[in-house]
Amino acid sequence: MTQRDTTFAVDEEFLRTFDYESPEYSEDPHSVLRAVRTASPIVRSDLYGGYWFVTTYAEGYRVLADPKTFSSSVTLVPPPEEPFDLIPVTVDPPDHTAYRKLMTPLFSPGEVARLEPAIRARARALIATYLSAGAGDFVAEVAIPLPSTVFLELLGLPQSDLPRLLQWKEAILRGRVAADDDVRNHALQVEIPGFLEYASTIVADRRAAPPTGAPDVLTGLVSGTINIDGGRPMTDAEIVSAVALLVVAGLDTVTNALAFSMETLAKRPDLRQHLAENPELIPTAVEEFLRFWSTVTTSRYTTTDVEIAGQLIKAGDMVSISTPAAGRDPAQYEDPEEIRFDRAVNRHLAFGAGPHRCLGSHLARLEMKIALEEVMTMMPQFVIASCAEPTHVFGHMMECTNLKLTIQP
Ligand code: HEM
Repeated sequence: MTQRDTTFAVDEEFLRTFDYESPEYSEDPHSVLRAVRTASPIVRSDLYGGYWFVTTYAEGYRVLADPKTFSSSVTLVPPPEEPFDLIPVTVDPPDHTAYRKLMTPLFSPGEVARLEPAIRARARALIATYLSAGAGDFVAEVAIPLPSTVFLELLGLPQSDLPRLLQWKEAILRGRVAADDDVRNHALQVEIPGFLEYASTIVADRRAAPPTGAPDVLTGLVSGTINIDGGRPMTDAEIVSAVALLVVAGLDTVTNALAFSMETLAKRPDLRQHLAENPELIPTAVEEFLRFWSTVTTSRYTTTDVEIAGQLIKAGDMVSISTPAAGRDPAQYEDPEEIRFDRAVNRHLAFGAGPHRCLGSHLARLEMKIALEEVMTMMPQFVIASCAEPTHVFGHMMECTNLKLTIQP
């Protein structure tokens, strides 16, 4: 991907007012991330009540791997006005370990592999429809529905619930911390209560009547035991909270990872051709896209005074870790701005690190692999449609939307 010429004068004033949610940087977020990382591995901004912003792999890893010093009781900057638990991400060990013990097997490589035929069939059908309809917005027609419909199947929810769940996902993820008062109030007063009511109903229904077919994630949550209070089932409120996190995590991330990957391939015919001719490289290409287009900036609450890269972080300070910036840290990667499908070692922070490392990483990787395999088979030649540059959104979950492609013969 080409580097644009955008440069930022990163002086003290710039850093003091740095807003990692600013739409100003949306067109090319990596120009500003590069500039901030060059200033320091960790910088302090006075916005949002003050927060630290970590841009390097080593320091990012250190924060994520140390839940004692950096608690995930608050994972958003600015902290939401009306916070609610998103189990297990907002819970610290040891309780976190108990939830993970119940949840991890539900997303194991074996469980996820069972879904492969269904994911492939769905990818083929979606791409076929996309092509026959004249190749419009790849995000709306393939990158959103593919992981979303798989997610509903995994959880054991009806496909007809998807439109409502996508709306609630937006409210939990972006609406409740939106700068616009109307958007935020609507999310807090209408959307989120609506979601909580829906989730309570599906949990109660599942308790009343477990499904007769293959067990799904919701059944696993309802019927499992956690090692808290001497061992007990999860309460309804805990399951609702876990479902909320799964909705947020499952309905946004793969969509954007796939969208950014497709944008890159549309703009780089050399990479596209290489992948079409060498499909066995697709798994390493997926890792490289995840590194290059890491999307999540998560945050932590500091529990005790600590020094990072020469800066004193005080107890009570919020620290945001930019996995997009860490993914292109020259101290960690050779040629970080180059997409290379032959990186021998490619440890990245796209899925986080430490105890909260992504629970859905096996599913995400499989979905991306299958999607790219089917793209390379069914539509190996494509470019960005003329006058239709995709839209990027900066912030705690980077987005790529409006990806209109032209398919070449
Ligand atoms: C490319 C796709 C994905 C990316 C980039 C991604 C990224 C992440 C990151 C960075 C974290 C750590 C957050 C933190 O430490 O604060 C995380 C956690 C998590 N992810 Fe993902 N994720 C993806 C897909 C998924 C999917 C498909 C699911 C489930 C269906 C999922 C479920 C979760 C859950 C439940 C957690 C919390 C784990 C815990 O707290 O122990 N993710 N993800």
